[in-house]
Amino acid sequence: MIRIQNAIAKLDTPHTTLLLKLEDRPKILYYGGRLRDAEDYTYFGLGTDGVLLSSADDVHCEASVLSSSGDGNNRESMLHIIGGDGSGTLRPVLIEAKIKKGKPDYESALPSSYGAKESLLLRYLDSMGLEILQYFSVFGDSDVIATSVRIRNTGKETLQIRRCMSLQLDLGEGNWEAVTLDGASQRERCPNRTILRGGSLSAASFAGLSSNVHNPFVIANNRHARGGSVACNLVWSGNHREIFDLSPVSGLRLLSGLNDYLFNYKLKPDETFEAPEAIFVRGEKEEDVCMEMRSFVAEHIVRGEWKKRARPVLINSWEGFLFSFDKEKLLEFCRRAAMVGIELFVMDDGWFGNRNDDTCSLGDWVANRKKLGGSLREFADEVRKSGLMFGIWMEPEMISKDSDLFRTHPEYALSVPGKETLEIRHQRVLDLTNPAVQKFMIGAISSVIEESGASYVKWDCNRGIFDLPGAEELFYRYTLGLYKVLSAITKKYPQVLIESCASGGNRYDLGMLCFTPQIWASDNTDARSRLAIQEGTLFGYPQSTMGAHVGSSPNPHTFNSSSPDTRFSVASAGAFGYEFDITALNDTMLENIRNQVTFYKQWRDVLQFGRYYRTDSVFEGDASGWIVVSEDGSRAVATVALLGKRCGGVPFRMRFKGLDPNALYAVASRPQKRANPIAFQAYGDALCQGNIRLGNVFTEEEMHAYSNEVVTRMFTFTRIDR
Ligand code: DGJ
Repeated sequence: MIRIQNAIAKLDTPHTTLLLKLEDRPKILYYGGRLRDAEDYTYFGLGTDGVLLSSADDVHCEASVLSSSGDGNNRESMLHIIGGDGSGTLRPVLIEAKIKKGKPDYESALPSSYGAKESLLLRYLDSMGLEILQYFSVFGDSDVIATSVRIRNTGKETLQIRRCMSLQLDLGEGNWEAVTLDGASQRERCPNRTILRGGSLSAASFAGLSSNVHNPFVIANNRHARGGSVACNLVWSGNHREIFDLSPVSGLRLLSGLNDYLFNYKLKPDETFEAPEAIFVRGEKEEDVCMEMRSFVAEHIVRGEWKKRARPVLINSWEGFLFSFDKEKLLEFCRRAAMVGIELFVMDDGWFGNRNDDTCSLGDWVANRKKLGGSLREFADEVRKSGLMFGIWMEPEMISKDSDLFRTHPEYALSVPGKETLEIRHQRVLDLTNPAVQKFMIGAISSVIEESGASYVKWDCNRGIFDLPGAEELFYRYTLGLYKVLSAITKKYPQVLIESCASGGNRYDLGMLCFTPQIWASDNTDARSRLAIQEGTLFGYPQSTMGAHVGSSPNPHTFNSSSPDTRFSVASAGAFGYEFDITALNDTMLENIRNQVTFYKQWRDVLQFGRYYRTDSVFEGDASGWIVVSEDGSRAVATVALLGKRCGGVPFRMRFKGLDPNALYAVASRPQKRANPIAFQAYGDALCQGNIRLGNVFTEEEMHAYSNEVVTRMFTFTRIDR
């Protein structure tokens, strides 16, 4: 999978090859479809000298995987380091290249991918007094390659690392389009397409979380006839930056790594600095790289007992009750939920301290006995008696000024002497760089889990970091502290399913997914909004990681109304649940929910772990659609959504993807109120190549009932084995 011959490293994945010429400063000779082994590849590098001579400013304009301050490039570069003498000239020279089984074996404080088959290790030295170790790992079953760098101070003076990106890929000439997942709270990760005309485009976060503003997952699409797409992502939950730097001289450079905003890491003699791991993949088309990324995340990022385990159908108390509940209300809620087949109850915010609104008690993780009618254990046992597993909400990284914790340990909160501490949602951020705070957090979370016997924890985080003592290393060290706590908790309680959350989806990234197998995608549960949020999220993350719930109608955030079927069809694209007051439903409504849950459980393996294909994009027309297909192609579920009414009789047609062309499938619509049932048999080739008109799928009756709303249908496909 990796070989070095004639000073060229050849990294093969099942469908791609990366060729690196191992010179002082390694060159990318080729990154594209898989190549057979050959004796000579030097012809890929011919002609670069000519380009080099004609350039006045750029000394190194050949494609490379490493660049640095003062190395002769008039563009964005990967490493910016200031030496003990104040100089910024860094010209690392490759001194060793070797192949190693698995990953480089050093102790690491950072989460990263696992299951690598082999790694290429490149060791560089610079006279500033530093050693750089760069690795590229391949996995055998994936086209994704993982990479990162470590910097060791081999000199006698302290170095200042001002920028240390994890990935540099020079992708050369082309007609480039950048795809970034951008948004805000309630509209997270919507794909944004920017045609690159020159200069730099950056997707970055600045408040200590990977953010809902710009996700670290990005794609570079070459719209030139020669084509090709490259996607990358970062295993990191703090400030990140991805840069698309388009140079008129040498084309596109893609960088991904830590955001250098305020960053200035002091590396003392003999110390080592570790950058987060980045992963990247190349494919012919955008949908290929997205597919590879999703499978890689499911196979090599998500880990532990829940890696392949069916995520339980849950019901969460938040949208239904907010802070106002008591034991009776919640237990009735659980009884109803159990009746319709829901498996897990999540008690959200408001169960601890004096928390009846968001002004107090974060940090005081002790049950409010008045609300729960006894201890946490007693209450959780009652929930279990009703037939549900018990799950609980925490916001471990935060502290309220009005809390016993703050009264006892004001120094636990991040603050800058002489400056008023910023209160956001009446809360402050715990100083996770402080080992005493880490210890407190591990203790507090452990006792909540142990006392309640929780099977699930929702780990929330509702504000960013803006109080910046020791700013230059704070963001980096905060994230390390977070990982330390997450790592201790997941080691101690491997059976507990943790769903991470941050004001909805403000920290949806690979770093969190190394510890928490699922992430709450957005507080916005409106079906129309979710079509966009989920389509964007599924560019880079698998369905099993994406928390998606049926909320109430009209939706509390958008006030849109939609049918229970529409809300179900949309939410069943992810790790599924409900989030409304189920005690307010009548028997017919409950029966409908029971049918939904039964259907979801029947198809859960495919819905959560099947291969996902987008068939229509919510960003491109008046329809949205997707199909998920089991690994062996024997079962599939497709969902289509019409975003508005079609006047003028344009019939709705469907073309599916991913089915086995030679297999005969029984196709059936999921029974829905007001919908004409459909059932027929067809071969996969016809289903995937024809534009099939499935009768009058969207009935007039439904159009009347849900004026201006999204209308959906789901179809199941079962291979008929003969
Ligand atoms: C923000 C989360 O996104 C919500 O789901 C809910 O848990 C609230 N926090 C509770 O405060």
